[in-house]
Amino acid sequence: MDLGLAGKRALVLGASRGLGKAIAQSLASEGATVFAAARSVEKIEAWSAGLASVHPVKLDLSDLSTVDAVADRLLAEGGVDIIINNSGGPPPGTAQGAERGAWILHFEAMAANLFHLTARLLPPMQDRKWGRVISITSSGVEQPIPNLALSNGVRSAVVGWSKTLANEVAADGITVNVVLPGRIHTERVDELDAAAAKRTQTDVAEVAVKSRATIPAGRYGKPEEFADVVTFLASDRAGYVTGSRIRIDGGAIKAI
Ligand SMILES: NC(=O)c1ccc[n+]([C@@H]2O[C@H](COP(=O)([O-])OP(=O)(O)OC[C@H]3O[C@@H](n4cnc5c(N)ncnc54)[C@H](OP(=O)(O)O)[C@@H]3O)[C@@H](O)[C@H]2O)c1
Repeated sequence: MDLGLAGKRALVLGASRGLGKAIAQSLASEGATVFAAARSVEKIEAWSAGLASVHPVKLDLSDLSTVDAVADRLLAEGGVDIIINNSGGPPPGTAQGAERGAWILHFEAMAANLFHLTARLLPPMQDRKWGRVISITSSGVEQPIPNLALSNGVRSAVVGWSKTLANEVAADGITVNVVLPGRIHTERVDELDAAAAKRTQTDVAEVAVKSRATIPAGRYGKPEEFADVVTFLASDRAGYVTGSRIRIDGGAIKAI
């Protein structure tokens, strides 16, 4: 299947490792020109060495001036066709324990600045009558995860924004979707398992076994499996999929 991605320009956020890196690599392998952004630009330079179609970009989503600088640069070059909104996850904690300042801090880096950047990059897509906006959230937006109040709350705002935007720009040939990772085996998941093992004073392998047992597929997803679905959504072939939530979770979310 030709995905029609050759020659498209994509901005992938949170691309120094994990899901963002896998998506950036997948889009590049389909012939897209990829602007891969994160704070640790040196990590992007390392994994993209030798890939002429990947351009590392330094960007801190908690610093609006760097967000605007990236928008200015991309708009000066004609903008992008595809935006992958992705960011780091907030720290764990209860709803009762989350302080006002933490809500504001994480809303800015995981939501407000992504909304702002997307809004700035939309006009060239509207002119060309083609665009893709895909936001990475979490299974927690459908089935809130205990002790992840900030993540459940802020990411739900991304879902509401995404659906609202989808309706506004559908007639311009722009699709807007959110993708829900369940448990995809990135460095972050290893770090979370290691933290859980420390907290409960158990072996990390035991934590991972218990975690996998909660997933009907019986295993964590691979970053490439996740990136394949996102790449399809970003493609020309997915032009009639918009305003949707797409789960990539091995069946982990309990409800249909
Ligand atoms: N993996 C899963 O199973 C899973 C499940 C549910 C939700 N999620 C969420 O999906 C997202 C990606 O997951 P992941 O496993 O790939 O996480 P990850 O390994 O922690 O990667 C996060 C990426 O975001 C970047 N980032 C963090 N803070 C940033 C900032 N202020 N400005 C710009 N970039 C920033 C990081 O790069 P720098 O540090 O270099 O900036 C990194 O490239 C995360 O939000 C995660 O919580 C993942």
